[in-house]
Amino acid sequence: MHYEFALYATALLGLASSANALRWWPSSVKRAVPTTHNFEANNDGSTFVWVLQDTFDGTNFFDQMAFYSGKDPTNGMVNYVNVSAAWDKGLVGYGDNGEVLMKGDNTTWLAEGAYRDSVRVSSYAQYNTGLFILDLNHAPWGCGIWPAFWTLGSGTWPDTGEIDIIEGVHDNEHNQVAWHTKQGCYLNPNASFSGTVVSGDAGNHTDCDGNANDNSGCAITQWSRASYGPYFDLQGGGVFAMKWDENGVSVHSFYRAAIPSDINDGSPTPSGWGVPEAFLSPESCDPIKYFVNHSVIFDITFCGDWAGNSYANTNCPGTCSQRIMDPANFENASWSINSLKVYRKQALNGVVDAAYPVAAYPLAATLLSLAMVLTVAL
Ligand SMILES: *[C@@H]1O[C@H](CO)[C@@H](O)[C@H](O)[C@H]1NC(C)=O
Ligand SMILES: *[C@@H]1O[C@H](CO)[C@@H](O)[C@H](O)[C@H]1NC(C)=O
Ligand SMILES: *[C@@H]1O[C@H](CO)[C@@H](O)[C@H](O)[C@H]1NC(C)=O
Ligand SMILES: *[C@@H]1O[C@H](CO)[C@@H](O)[C@H](O)[C@H]1NC(C)=O
Ligand SMILES: *[C@@H]1O[C@H](CO)[C@@H](O)[C@H](O)[C@H]1NC(C)=O
Ligand SMILES: *[C@@H]1O[C@H](CO)[C@@H](O)[C@H](O)[C@H]1NC(C)=O
Repeated sequence: MHYEFALYATALLGLASSANALRWWPSSVKRAVPTTHNFEANNDGSTFVWVLQDTFDGTNFFDQMAFYSGKDPTNGMVNYVNVSAAWDKGLVGYGDNGEVLMKGDNTTWLAEGAYRDSVRVSSYAQYNTGLFILDLNHAPWGCGIWPAFWTLGSGTWPDTGEIDIIEGVHDNEHNQVAWHTKQGCYLNPNASFSGTVVSGDAGNHTDCDGNANDNSGCAITQWSRASYGPYFDLQGGGVFAMKWDENGVSVHSFYRAAIPSDINDGSPTPSGWGVPEAFLSPESCDPIKYFVNHSVIFDITFCGDWAGNSYANTNCPGTCSQRIMDPANFENASWSINSLKVYRKQALNGVVDAAYPVAAYPLAATLLSLAMVLTVAL
């Protein structure tokens, strides 16, 4: 969520890849390699499974979120409302199918220069590593609109790091993944990922130092033209998965039709998902040292450091502050989320023990049955 003007180069990638225009769908659908079990292995060969730690969905989402109602640190023309105002104004809610809904105000006409109401929520829970799987139907987009799904460390920015998982402005079609850290963390451009390193006036943005390159951090733009904006929404959204552990920080994304069955089954197996769209590899950035105590955040802001400064370089009409006035311009400024599930690593060694009273230890029972499957397979 920290951008300056130079970063609009990202949006222009949409043009650069227009040669792929006819290929945006469905040839770019990723098919996960089928997996027969959900064991994963660390680099040292030890095995583990990802087990569900927290679920944020239509039964509990807003109970687990703090509403931020201060000034937007990215200088948006936004008025982040508190929890009671968000419900009163209908900016948050649950849908008929249990979706979590959050939106910017799209009913109020404003005078030019006035700020538009919106929401920014942050999980009470804080994490130090995990697998974060967001299943969403719709992400906000449109002229002057700047949404993000991200994680942010506690304390003084950027000392405990920031991981931007879904982010873009205007009618961009390529999602941008970014990291912002204290000094000393670098993106290795030679690591294995399918996206493109974001570049600006100072060359490729591989220095993740939050205060370098006009606060742009290090960033990767996804190859797919349906990873953000209109095409992402038109085909029903999909899944973004951010994996953060000692082996690095990666982001995978899948269109609705291509979500791997292990994700839908609740037994995610990232090793079967192929090359990630974006990856911060551990040898050039220690993922444990640079990212600490992260909350999960969703927000929708307007204009400001990225969407405002880049507005004149788009095909959007008028100025950004004029765009804010008409509520009809915000018909797509909404999140519709099926669930956010956070998984943690559970090592297998020493947990599977037939002496456990399994009824009292559901996890042990699960692992025991998994171990039996593996034994049979061997
Ligand atoms: C929430 O915001 C509304 C509208 O700005 C204000 O009237 C109300 O006092 C606020 N509530 C709290 C608990 O701050
Ligand atoms: C990436 O690879 C290029 C070409 O082999 C090399 O010049 C560069 O130093 C490498 N960068 C890093 C960070 O390893
Ligand atoms: C910048 O990144 C792009 C794509 O990731 C790469 O092709 C190019 O060689 C890089 N430029 C420099 C100066 O490293
Ligand atoms: C992370 O949170 C823990 C528990 O609240 C706290 O003790 C620790 O100081 C925090 N670390 C940082 C770097 O803020
Ligand atoms: C909202 O999305 C629809 C469907 O893609 C599109 O036709 C419409 O122009 C969008 N509205 C705005 C204000 O961007
Ligand atoms: C306002 O936003 C909601 C959620 O995106 C949408 O369903 C509705 O159609 C919008 N209304 C108008 C008048 O744009």
